[in-house]
Amino acid sequence: MNFSGTLRINKFACFILVFILFLIVYWRTGAAEFPSDKSDLVNLKSLLKAAIQAAERGGKKVKQGKDHELNVKSKGETLEGANDPVTDADYASHCAMYYALKNTFSKLTIVSEEHSKDDSTCADQPVIDVEESVPNHESIESMNDEHVYAKDVTIWIDPLDATQEYTGMGVPIIGVIHYPFTPRTFWGWYTKKPSANILNVEYNEENKHHPKVVVSRSHPGKVAELSKQAFGSKTTVATAAGAGYKVMGVVNGTYDVYLHATAIKKWDLCAGDAIIKTVNGRMTTTKGDIVDYSPDGNVKVSHGILVTRFDHDYYLSKMTKEAKP
Ligand SMILES: *[C@@H]1O[C@H](CO)[C@@H](O)[C@H](O)[C@H]1NC(C)=O
Repeated sequence: MNFSGTLRINKFACFILVFILFLIVYWRTGAAEFPSDKSDLVNLKSLLKAAIQAAERGGKKVKQGKDHELNVKSKGETLEGANDPVTDADYASHCAMYYALKNTFSKLTIVSEEHSKDDSTCADQPVIDVEESVPNHESIESMNDEHVYAKDVTIWIDPLDATQEYTGMGVPIIGVIHYPFTPRTFWGWYTKKPSANILNVEYNEENKHHPKVVVSRSHPGKVAELSKQAFGSKTTVATAAGAGYKVMGVVNGTYDVYLHATAIKKWDLCAGDAIIKTVNGRMTTTKGDIVDYSPDGNVKVSHGILVTRFDHDYYLSKMTKEAKP
């Protein structure tokens, strides 16, 4: 990344935790000198390490909550009138992530819909040790430090439905996706590298002639038809839930194409966008535009999404020529 330009550079990182998102926004202007007081700076590398650990802590809370819920259900107890364990789990998860980051980076602005006010019941979260390497993510240690002004960084933590809170600018740079139930965390830092658990995929030109396409579970029929129309009759179509999950399927080579033909929220896309770009793949609308995460823009992409690791232009040309979503 180049910090010496005169253009206003806007970047953000986003973190998906099932239905929870972190959005880290930072921007800087001009070629200013860094202040001599180091405490005014934040190291993005430390922030990545902290975000992974915060997501994993949050994931544990979600998982505990679900286990508890199953327990309650299996005992045949009614959930009516009782605290909703899912809500409690969501809350505990938010709280753990919010205060873990807040206590670790006191100068960062962290915006969370659920925890914008002080909440003494859960504020006592242990600080994340950003000097220690993160288990399974030791590969971060070899990366360079990257310091930006703390005042220019905003971390957003929000549930998926809080789209009105969505403000951010520019292109996603760091994406983190955490799966709480089979605990694994994947990340990508665009222009740097992906997490070590993201394996290299060999390019095979043959795949163009019989691509494996993954589509949403919600209206598979129409997109399946569209895929075959666009990419040929040898196309195979699978369905899966979750945009982040489908992007990861393209990232790991299980699928050649992720096609989404209807409107989709940008929240669902940004972490995957950063990760697919990190492995030199691409995410565009079905018309070939990159997704713009500008604050005043629509929170939805209305023309669908095309995600590939290879041959993006080829698939795009097929889309625009053969089929109109
Ligand atoms: C690849 O990604 C898909 C979808 O996210 C997942 O089901 C599968 O287990 C992954 N495979 C490997 C080898 O990681």
